[in-house]
Amino acid sequence: MKKIKRIGILTGGGDAPGLNAVIRAAVRSAWMRGWEVIGIRQGFEGLIKPGLTQKMSPRDVSGILRLGGTILGTTNRGNPFEYASNGSGKTEDRSQLAVKNFKKLGLDALIAIGGDGSLSIAYKLYRKGVPVVGVPKTIDNDVSGTVITFGFDTAVSTATEALDKLHSTAESHERVMVVEVMGRYAGWIALHSGIAGGADVILVPEIPFSMESVCRKINSRYEGHGPKFGIVVCAEGAKEKGGALITKGEKEAGREHPHLGGIAEYVSNEIQKRTGHESRSLVLGHLQRGGEPTTFDRLLGTRLGVGAVELIEKGRFGHMVALRPPKITSVSIHEAISKMKKIPSDSDVVRAAKALGICFGD
Ligand code: F6P
Repeated sequence: MKKIKRIGILTGGGDAPGLNAVIRAAVRSAWMRGWEVIGIRQGFEGLIKPGLTQKMSPRDVSGILRLGGTILGTTNRGNPFEYASNGSGKTEDRSQLAVKNFKKLGLDALIAIGGDGSLSIAYKLYRKGVPVVGVPKTIDNDVSGTVITFGFDTAVSTATEALDKLHSTAESHERVMVVEVMGRYAGWIALHSGIAGGADVILVPEIPFSMESVCRKINSRYEGHGPKFGIVVCAEGAKEKGGALITKGEKEAGREHPHLGGIAEYVSNEIQKRTGHESRSLVLGHLQRGGEPTTFDRLLGTRLGVGAVELIEKGRFGHMVALRPPKITSVSIHEAISKMKKIPSDSDVVRAAKALGICFGD
């Protein structure tokens, strides 16, 4: 096995609270082994554009544990295999250049921290000979192979706090409040924050909903003797039965997914139209990605950062660190990206929610 002397680290895709905890842990544990660390800025873009790399020592990561975002910067663009180099909307394969630059930097391994999109790029680079290890990251919690991704806990806490606050205004005005949270193809944030925040209706991509069912639940809230208001949480990727994803325009060049958005407004308008109860919608958006990571995410990020360095030491390239309680373990990146982690149809969490009378619109 080649002796490791210098490793690279990058963060790709949308940011998630806890990224800095991973970076800090990886840099510190690599230094303990006498390895040099090169930070690659702006995700995979840093392997294509010049001037985006920096040496990193423990001093550079001091004080970042509690910070949101990523000190290395990130982007949803910069996929070397579909690189959008100019504004023409066309993409080209620049992966050979990325591999060349990796070698030019004298790197023996690369830690790629990312969600499904960035891990897919990491895997393709691995297939091209780059010794990569992955760290799963996304507030959406939809990466397979790991029970939880860091960033999720912080996002759920933010969404829950928002639901707590919306209760008082909803109750005062006897209104329905419909909140859109992130979750493109998996509704983990909606499910967990909806239960923790006392929602009446939770709409997730895994369970197509009907407006009739949602309105029945809302009407029942106003007919009873209890408080006359309603709280609805919907994941941005929730769909009506037989309906399509609600998007904001076309997919941009070099990006993997179209921008989602608008489901809460749609549901809110329909509720008002069909039930006659006043309804308002709001989109939590990037609030869920910002701010300080929770204790849970700091700890998970730290464990995964250390775990990534251990994977490199063992030569387990093409693998990703994963949380399978009580342990940090690893799975092949290929296995992790081959299917998205969605809420299972037999989820006991959904069952618990239904037992409380929470409606999923099914
Ligand atoms: O991190 C994943 C995610 O949070 C999705 O739920 C959401 O659709 C997307 O990021 C939005 O990211 P951006 O606006 O940065 O493209």
